[in-house]
Amino acid sequence: MRTELTYDAPLMELNTFGIQAKARMLLTYDSEASLREALSDIRHHHSNLPMLHIGCGSNLLFLGDYPGIVLRSANRGIRLLGETTDEVLVEVGAGEVCDDFIAHAIRNGWYGMENLSLIPGQVGAAAVQNIGAYGVEVCDVIHEVKGISLSDGSERLWKRDDCGYGYRQSIFKSELWGKYAITYVTFRLSKHFNPNLQYGGLRKALEQFTSDSPQGECPKTLGALQLREAIIGIRRAKLPDPKKQGNAGSFFKNPVVGKEVAEQLLVDYPEMPHYPAGEGKVKLAAGWLIEQAGWKGRSLGPAAVHDRQALVLVNKGGATGSDIQRLCEAVRKDVGTRFGIDLEPEVNFII
Ligand code: EPU
Repeated sequence: MRTELTYDAPLMELNTFGIQAKARMLLTYDSEASLREALSDIRHHHSNLPMLHIGCGSNLLFLGDYPGIVLRSANRGIRLLGETTDEVLVEVGAGEVCDDFIAHAIRNGWYGMENLSLIPGQVGAAAVQNIGAYGVEVCDVIHEVKGISLSDGSERLWKRDDCGYGYRQSIFKSELWGKYAITYVTFRLSKHFNPNLQYGGLRKALEQFTSDSPQGECPKTLGALQLREAIIGIRRAKLPDPKKQGNAGSFFKNPVVGKEVAEQLLVDYPEMPHYPAGEGKVKLAAGWLIEQAGWKGRSLGPAAVHDRQALVLVNKGGATGSDIQRLCEAVRKDVGTRFGIDLEPEVNFII
């Protein structure tokens, strides 16, 4: 395959919510050259059609059929660009599955991404979303991102500091949304395993692997594979498997509010989870707010709030994008009324 073009393409298998929608055209490419060729063809024959680049569709909500061209990367490959005694620089094709690369990295003794294990999605999408879990964000290990302009096929490189990274944020998600296809991500990984165990539940989950560590200390015999296994165990216990029940992971971002807002809420809800989030800011737990608003495990038609993690909305079967959106709005309304907080979806709505 170089490029593969399908008309009237079903998208059900291409979005983890399992929404039944179609794209006017679906184009899968496997290299920068084939993408450029396809883009040139699109400019000549379909310049009026909108374009949407997707990864594994794990952060998308299709609200209807997509009236344009859906692009999908099958651009694979892992290349060691250079190394020192402490670090490696590894270039990864944006179409690689992120979790497969994490497993590969661990096998090669390249560390830093263990805590991101099992997050669904491709490497390119990970760089767009700035995926994060258990105290690590992918931007912590990104060195550089390469992309191709969808409008003229030109190439561009962004150093990590130029990617506008923040909590679930990047320039690719904001001002450059829809303008570039990410083709490669270069990671800077460590050759020394230095586990990040700051997430509360992690040490507990690791106890099964270690008998030599006093409580609260980093287990001495911990290996990267064990950390990966523990992370996978935590995720499997809390989060629904998209293969079994459609979902897009966290549907909402955890809200970041001013310190005064958090302090005021803590007067009424002293048990409310809250975390420092930079100068004068506090991050609240959307899952907790949703649970308190009475939505955990509740359904609205074929859409529901997951019963083990209220931050996740699920498709109980046959839900449309509008069903999920309706539930999203109902949850937002109730959380707003009760706490005065407006939850912002993390998932991208596609019209
Ligand atoms: N909580 C509840 N009820 C719930 C869910 C959570 O009370 O239904 C409380 C928990 O008890 C805890 C707090 O909320 O005190 C935080 O919960 P948790 O540690 O499960 O993490 P989260 O903030 O809900 C975020 C990410 C997850 C990531 C975890 C672990 C966002 C939007 N979500 O969830 O990411 O796995 O932290 O790092 O930041 C994803 O992006 O798809 C995703 C799953």
